[in-house]
Amino acid sequence: MASELTPPLDLEHGQGPTGPTGRQMPDFPDPQPLASHGPARIIAMCNQKGGVGKTTTTINLGAALAEYGRRVLLVDFDPQGALSVGLGVPTHQLDTTIYNLLVERGHDVREIIQRTSVDGLDVVPANIDLSAAEVQLVGEVAREQILSRILRPVLDDYDVVLIDCQPSLGLLTVNALTAAHGVIIPLETEYFAMRGVALLVETIEKITDRLNPALQIDGILATMFDGRTLHSREVVGSVVDHFDERVFHTVISRTVKFPDATLAAEPITSYATGHSGANAYRQLARELVARGGAP
Ligand SMILES: Nc1ncnc2c1ncn2[C@@H]1O[C@H](COP(=O)(O)OP(=O)(O)OP(=O)(O)O)[C@@H](O)[C@H]1O
Ligand SMILES: [Mg+2]
Repeated sequence: MASELTPPLDLEHGQGPTGPTGRQMPDFPDPQPLASHGPARIIAMCNQKGGVGKTTTTINLGAALAEYGRRVLLVDFDPQGALSVGLGVPTHQLDTTIYNLLVERGHDVREIIQRTSVDGLDVVPANIDLSAAEVQLVGEVAREQILSRILRPVLDDYDVVLIDCQPSLGLLTVNALTAAHGVIIPLETEYFAMRGVALLVETIEKITDRLNPALQIDGILATMFDGRTLHSREVVGSVVDHFDERVFHTVISRTVKFPDATLAAEPITSYATGHSGANAYRQLARELVARGGAP
């Protein structure tokens, strides 16, 4: 696989190796151990385009950060419940999920947080019930801030909270962006990858103006990259032309190990711990910490 080859040396510029994004690849050191935990930095995984790797990135970035000793809470904020299922939570058997916390009073998020098979990695599950929430919340006061309020009691228990958004820019996603400190935008390395991104950036800017001035774009992540094709390299090149340093140096290659890991209901970091896909998410975790996007 191309991603397993040593990157070519950029002799022309006399620098280190050129990474898959066409820029010099920095070295991302292992994160320092943390002496204490919290308060968490909240990151929304967001792209209204479906199937770009939001859920896969939430699970595996979360698992990689947990391997580096971070306490991580993953929030399933998609009625499809793919994040919950991908971590082995039997969603159809749950009486109380994030849905109940959104629409009913008197719950505490600690009631519904579940441990996963990975040490330090917890999950707030969702299931199809959540699909009713947007309609039910339309008339609520401060309806954009509900998730922020739900998460507040546990922020001191975690270092990072990752919210897996659904593929839409509706009220649930607005709640995620209002609760978050940062956004990661996964982009499938395909023609039309950029389609819709302008609208997403516009939405993020509106949220920054009106609801959450501190919100920032932590990075754009190229997923399902195939280094053997000119096409993939061209798409990544154009994303870098457009977003420049906001594009992560780390890219995630296309490999069937990701859907395999999902079927096994495990992060790739434990399902195929030595696989290049697992190492890519470890590198993403190191890059995120190096950029200040996570403690
Ligand atoms: N790097 C990859 N290589 C190959 N397959 C991948 C990769 N990343 C994700 N997939 C697969 O692509 C499909 C879509 O990925 P994923 O569910 O993470 O996207 P999503 O953006 O969360 O989708 P949705 O918008 O429906 O929530 C899944 O079957 C997943 O296993
Ligand atoms: Mg998803």
